[in-house]
Amino acid sequence: MGLNIISRRHFLGRTAGLAAGAFTGPNLLLKGQDKAGKRLNLAVIGANGKGQSDTQGVTLDHNIVALVDVDKKRLEEAAKKRVDHHLKSSQPEPAAPKLYQDFRKMFDEMSNEIDGVIVSTPDHTHYVAAMHALKHKKHVCVQKPLCNYISEVRDLHSTAKAAGVITNMGNQGRTMEGQRLAKEWIEQGAIGTLKEIRLWTNRPIWPQGPLVKKAAECPANLDWDLWLSSEASEPYFEFEIPAGVNGKRGNSVHPFNWRGWWQFGSGALGDMGCHIMDATFSILGQLIPEKIDATSSQISDTCAPVWSDLVYHMPAGKHAALTVSWNDGSKDGKPNKPAISPHMTSEGAIKAFEKASSGMMFIGTNGTIFEGDAYCASPVIYNEDLWLQTRLDMKSGKIKKTETRSAMPNNPQGEWAHHIVNGGLPASNFDYSAPLTEFVLLGNLAVRAQQSVQWDKQGMKVSNAEAPNKFVARPAYRDGWKA
Ligand SMILES: NC(=O)c1ccc[n+]([C@@H]2O[C@H](COP(=O)([O-])OP(=O)(O)OC[C@H]3O[C@@H](n4cnc5c(N)ncnc54)[C@H](O)[C@@H]3O)[C@@H](O)[C@H]2O)c1
Repeated sequence: MGLNIISRRHFLGRTAGLAAGAFTGPNLLLKGQDKAGKRLNLAVIGANGKGQSDTQGVTLDHNIVALVDVDKKRLEEAAKKRVDHHLKSSQPEPAAPKLYQDFRKMFDEMSNEIDGVIVSTPDHTHYVAAMHALKHKKHVCVQKPLCNYISEVRDLHSTAKAAGVITNMGNQGRTMEGQRLAKEWIEQGAIGTLKEIRLWTNRPIWPQGPLVKKAAECPANLDWDLWLSSEASEPYFEFEIPAGVNGKRGNSVHPFNWRGWWQFGSGALGDMGCHIMDATFSILGQLIPEKIDATSSQISDTCAPVWSDLVYHMPAGKHAALTVSWNDGSKDGKPNKPAISPHMTSEGAIKAFEKASSGMMFIGTNGTIFEGDAYCASPVIYNEDLWLQTRLDMKSGKIKKTETRSAMPNNPQGEWAHHIVNGGLPASNFDYSAPLTEFVLLGNLAVRAQQSVQWDKQGMKVSNAEAPNKFVARPAYRDGWKA
């Protein structure tokens, strides 16, 4: 946390009683103005689930003027948890936000009271909710992945640029120190020449695979039609859990389990790729792959697979051409992981690799950067001698800090609000996070196509086959949802 933030928090802590209670209209701020201490008026769409911690990231420093959730019970719970968070943080009870189930109604009724909008709904609603916010010229912070179709990502990016607003995506790894260190080590030669990158995750930890819908009674608290948003109207459904599918989280799509359905989510890759591929994307200079190979367990038109193996073929840029591999899920009851790096031969290295349910290995000619988690928060180097040497080189200044650090580590929503107030850009603004999301979704394109795909970035199309192009754009939008 930067010093300016600490002193601002301290100041706000003393004045929050004054600030709470009266919302006086939006603080339509100009980029670059020095307005430290200014409280923004923010709305959160998808208030519970991740939206709840996203709200916590901004609620002490800013006014939450509206919370939106299609599930009435979860909406009320989210409002209460926000109040609890203030009280636990020794803050006075904040003014109550307006509560909505339909974000379109919120924009109709109170758009002029809102500065910025956080979108934390299931993936399929990111695009339509964020586009509504942009139509009203609001700053937007959207959860990862930005959208679950590549054409939506491109449209959202260009619309935000034209609107001139501050944007961010909720991939918290991009705010962390570790990702920057890994890039600095590689660029300053700590592991020799970068040769290969291996990434993996144990996801899906939700039901994913050959699922079949079955009719069920909709919970009374849920407005299912609003939950579907731009997807075609259909009766509420649940599903059977077939053998080999992780069913620990139950058999309803709401909440959380929508992830495995192409309509609503983006599978294990879409869920974790914007985290686990983030450092890779940054280190490789934000390049888009030329070709992606994919194999996976059985897929269907509706659901993502139990496991998939991908190879991204990256063109030369900052580094020579290389491959990035991705493994997710489990095969025959065992985690689907890549082979361990040849530099990780010690007992400690092998244990660290075995323990890592998600992770990344940047393999160089002399050593490997290893991270045993999704965000690249605490990378280390193998072998151990090289790690010791790298730390000494950092201490002596031989390896320098060249990357810009985040103003609000581990808080992308707070970082976004900070830059709306103080100027400058969040690290995962759409110029970064839109192509990152495209990078991730290209893997899904290859999985859904069940073949290697060559990507024509300029033309936004697969160039070696026609059939996969039907997965580039959402097939249809329901009337009344496109902004
Ligand atoms: N950055 C991270 O670490 C992280 C972690 C978890 C989830 N996420 C992302 O956050 C988003 C939400 O995931 P989740 O796990 O909280 O899902 P969830 O289903 O648990 O929660 C989503 C919430 O949004 C509400 N909602 C659904 N449709 C809505 C609509 N049309 N309008 C308003 N509210 C709506 C639901 O009722 C629910 O309360 C996803 O995009 C996910 O990828 C990010």
